[in-house]
Amino acid sequence: MSILSWLFCVLVTILIGHYGRGSGQDEEAKVKVSAAKNVFILGGQSNMAGRGGVRDGKWDGNVPPECKSNPLISRFNAQLQWAEAREPLHADIDVGKTCGVGPGMAFANEAVRARIGEVGLVPCAIGGTRISNWTRGSPLYNNLVRRATESVKDGSGTIRALVWYQGESDTVREEDAVAYKANFQRFILDLRSDLRIPSLLIIQVALASGEGKFTEKVREAQLGIKLSNVKCVDAKGLQLKEDKLHLTTASEVHLGIKLARAYLSH
Ligand SMILES: *[C@@H]1O[C@H](CO)[C@@H](O)[C@H](O)[C@H]1NC(C)=O
Repeated sequence: MSILSWLFCVLVTILIGHYGRGSGQDEEAKVKVSAAKNVFILGGQSNMAGRGGVRDGKWDGNVPPECKSNPLISRFNAQLQWAEAREPLHADIDVGKTCGVGPGMAFANEAVRARIGEVGLVPCAIGGTRISNWTRGSPLYNNLVRRATESVKDGSGTIRALVWYQGESDTVREEDAVAYKANFQRFILDLRSDLRIPSLLIIQVALASGEGKFTEKVREAQLGIKLSNVKCVDAKGLQLKEDKLHLTTASEVHLGIKLARAYLSH
């Protein structure tokens, strides 16, 4: 063998070894990731976005132990990237308001504590929105569908449920409260169809408060949803802030844990 062909052989061996091994490792890493992330879409209005610890337009920065960051918990940010999850979870999403503690981090921590593995949160809630703001084709609806779709596009996870807390703004006008049940059911069916997850689990919250006098009417609608795979967690009786509308940090933690248990018992 000439020295040139010997050199050639050595080079080829090195290259095959390098690239062959490299792609094998990538494949392995991908499989590990795809088995991992349990993705939850968070939707609704202010009590989902989180106002716990917010006073006079400022958040007090208090993060209870149940809401701490954890390497197993990530959030899908406004730039459509997975990043470390930390309070306030909706800070770059519900940008029109000051965000504080919501139920999301307590939910995720409780799920991790139950050893479900990695948790990915996709925050989408916007304060002050009525159910009519979330009809198919509306900007909020389209954004939620887009964020949900993008969050699992790389195959890194599976959407497990939509966690929904909304309706306070539908308690002001009687016609909104009366139409709530039909509108919410329509929203669920449209979303399942557009995400192509026909039996997507919905975990919704029955209101603890309202902006108007038809809170009981909206609660009745929420508690009376008869679609399959829709679970309801009742927030009635949870302590509210002085505004009588928003949950305190402690209440948000309590609710987040209840929502996680509803998921885990599903
Ligand atoms: C919700 O709907 C109302 C009435 O159509 C509209 O004025 C408001 O801007 C909407 N809010 C959002 C956040 O889209």
